[in-house]
Amino acid sequence: MQLDSIQASDIILTGDRTTGQLHLGHYVGSLRNRVILQERCAQFLLLADQQALTDNMGNYLKVRDNVLQVALDYLAVGIDPAKSTIFIQSLVPELAELSSYYLNLVTVARLERNPTIKDEIKLRGYERDIPAGFLTYPAAQAADITAFKANIVPVGEDQIPMIEQTNEIVRRFNASVDQAVLVEARAVVPEFGARLPGIDGRAKMSKSLGNTITLSASADDIRQAVKMMYTDPKHLRVSDPGQVEGNVVFTYLDVFHSDQALVAELKARYQHGGLGDTELKKHLEECLQALLAPIRERRERYARDPAAVLEMLKAGTRRARETAARTLGEVKAAMGLNYY
Ligand code: TRP
Repeated sequence: MQLDSIQASDIILTGDRTTGQLHLGHYVGSLRNRVILQERCAQFLLLADQQALTDNMGNYLKVRDNVLQVALDYLAVGIDPAKSTIFIQSLVPELAELSSYYLNLVTVARLERNPTIKDEIKLRGYERDIPAGFLTYPAAQAADITAFKANIVPVGEDQIPMIEQTNEIVRRFNASVDQAVLVEARAVVPEFGARLPGIDGRAKMSKSLGNTITLSASADDIRQAVKMMYTDPKHLRVSDPGQVEGNVVFTYLDVFHSDQALVAELKARYQHGGLGDTELKKHLEECLQALLAPIRERRERYARDPAAVLEMLKAGTRRARETAARTLGEVKAAMGLNYY
């Protein structure tokens, strides 16, 4: 992610669907950047419970309960509610109202062509039985972004089509009222290498694949995960030469280890033969334990007082709502819907 290009006048909005706890993949791909960016400019962080319901209506309690869990993950990594505005989507009805106007600016065919929607429909096996709320969530996401006049949206690559569709709506709206009411946004994606593979070696760490290390992982969970971690299946004896490419332990060492000279040395020894997986994994386990221990401890501390976390969310949501209401007012006024 091009952090350097982000300035004090920028406005960031991003968020997470509240369907499960966050993991190391989220940490590498986005959370650690948010901790840096909150020092630099305004940052809104959305707990997207309403969007999560578009394909989880049968599981609303899971969605509800994970609002607190994701908030705890944010706090645990060092996102500071005094610097970032953390808020709950379903408690900002202005977003739904904005989205209802935006829906008049998109066609069903365009929504069906949205590559992310297309993939997700296939993945979920909806075929023709697509919940209408699901098909139209790109318009809701456009509301999430534009309500805050966000011009920077840090997201994973899979979300780029959402930002493109948002900008189409922005241009169409501004053109139709002949005023620059809404602001176009730029997707900022993690740079190459910021996507963490799963512990099984699959390209993506994902809860549904069961190959994650969550931010709340215990010391024992971490030990087990590293033990199970995919290395080089052909590296059987310590003396055998081993593969570094595609070896998840090395990928993680590249991302997490503070001593990259040591990592280079380990690679050389591994490729040459003479470095066993057990010793190699010891280095990774140590550095993951060191990274995650303070995160876990902070998470536990906040988890002991959920009422205080909810108060924090309430304050963030109140601030977010003020901004969203202001934009909604401008949008309606631009359409002449300011009757009195
Ligand atoms: N769709 C995003 C995801 O699945 C979550 C999200 C909802 C979001 N609204 C957003 C991200 C607005 C960026 C901006 O992860």
